Amino acid sequence: MKGVGKFGEVMAAEKGRVSYDELAVRLEKIIRSGSQKKAITDFVCRELRKIPHYTWVGVYRIEGGDLVLQSWSGPSATQHTRIPIGSGICGAAVAERTTIVVPDVNADPRYLQCFLNTRSEIVVPILRDGTALAEIDIDSDRVDAFTETDRTFLESVATDLASIL
Ligand code: SME
Repeated sequence: MKGVGKFGEVMAAEKGRVSYDELAVRLEKIIRSGSQKKAITDFVCRELRKIPHYTWVGVYRIEGGDLVLQSWSGPSATQHTRIPIGSGICGAAVAERTTIVVPDVNADPRYLQCFLNTRSEIVVPILRDGTALAEIDIDSDRVDAFTETDRTFLESVATDLASIL
């Protein structure tokens, strides 16, 4: 299966290797499993965090004018469990209905700090018919960690999630 998938990249990780394509297959299976939404987003967060540069992974859902943290995986909990839309990178991605990649969080005035070691961040809205339902938020402890592959991969996970959330 090496190199034949859509995303093509394989990364060395602590325990063996992580392939975006193998991960995409596992995620698609669970998303289509018919399990409860919360169980699915918990699983998605845990699986995504296997990618070495994904330090903290969360899924926020939209509730009225706020983003509410539904699931997360990472070394510690965030204080930002409810974020007003329009606040932070998280709020901006939903307000603009587009993926936002921040290569250096310390250089972005919109950034709401959660963890001292975060250096870069990607936020991918989960859209259905152009309306935002939720979003995937990922922090990395590396500067400029997120590539075009990450964006394409996560947008495809977001599209799958949009069909069940
Ligand atoms: N940094 C985010 C807030 C959420 S935490 O990263 C989990 C932001 O700027 O919106």
